[in-house]
Amino acid sequence: MFVGDLGEGDLKTIKAIKKIPIPTAVILGNHDRGYDGSGDLLKIQLRMLGDLHCGWDLREWDFPLVSVIGARPCSSGGGFHLSKEVKAIFGPISLEESAEKIVLAAKKAHKDLPLIILAHSGPSGLGSEASSPCGRDWKRPYIDWGDKDLAIAIDKIRMHKVPNLVVFGHTHHELKNNAGVRKTFARDQWGTAYLNTAAVPRSGYDSNGNLLTHFSWVEFKNGVLNDVSHRWYREDGSIAYNEQLYTLKPIAE
Ligand SMILES: [Fe+2]
Repeated sequence: MFVGDLGEGDLKTIKAIKKIPIPTAVILGNHDRGYDGSGDLLKIQLRMLGDLHCGWDLREWDFPLVSVIGARPCSSGGGFHLSKEVKAIFGPISLEESAEKIVLAAKKAHKDLPLIILAHSGPSGLGSEASSPCGRDWKRPYIDWGDKDLAIAIDKIRMHKVPNLVVFGHTHHELKNNAGVRKTFARDQWGTAYLNTAAVPRSGYDSNGNLLTHFSWVEFKNGVLNDVSHRWYREDGSIAYNEQLYTLKPIAE
């Protein structure tokens, strides 16, 4: 799953994603609008991605056995702001209409499969500290920078099925002004997990000069969230560093 901000409208990453031989799902981010206010560059990317892009829709596939739906494409967080590029393609869409589109996507999903919501910005309601999963850390006052349409949608979706996981990016793990690192995992009272995957940059070198690349890793077992971690992989596919965020406690015998 790709949470967006692939590269300022650069088509290279999209071409690379299309070649990945396993199922992928993409939501584009605010930076993917590029520098083309007409929306044409965004349209090209959406056309290239085709059904890999799941903005406001269900990513249809037979495998893996999870349902993935997308939130509003190209979100820049901060409650609700429909970018002019998105408006140029999808028309004027209100906060309520955006929430409803996410809810409709969830209704298309198979009820018995785990439900994952893929978003560029996470929902509002996860805290208003700079270090909250969607907190604004780059400017005072520190506020909740999450998306309201997504939060409303999650509330409504829960009436049919509790979403298992919301995956997003946008608010970087490392906080501005050397203020430490962000909280990147949360669970609400209904059991929905929230995972911020925005390790930026997502690749770098260790002290021995080995390239390490970040992936957020999630496992489901029998339809239940079982393991969530941030992992830094070496080029040979081995794990150099694993930050465990969640493990399902084994049931005591
Ligand atoms: Fe972003």
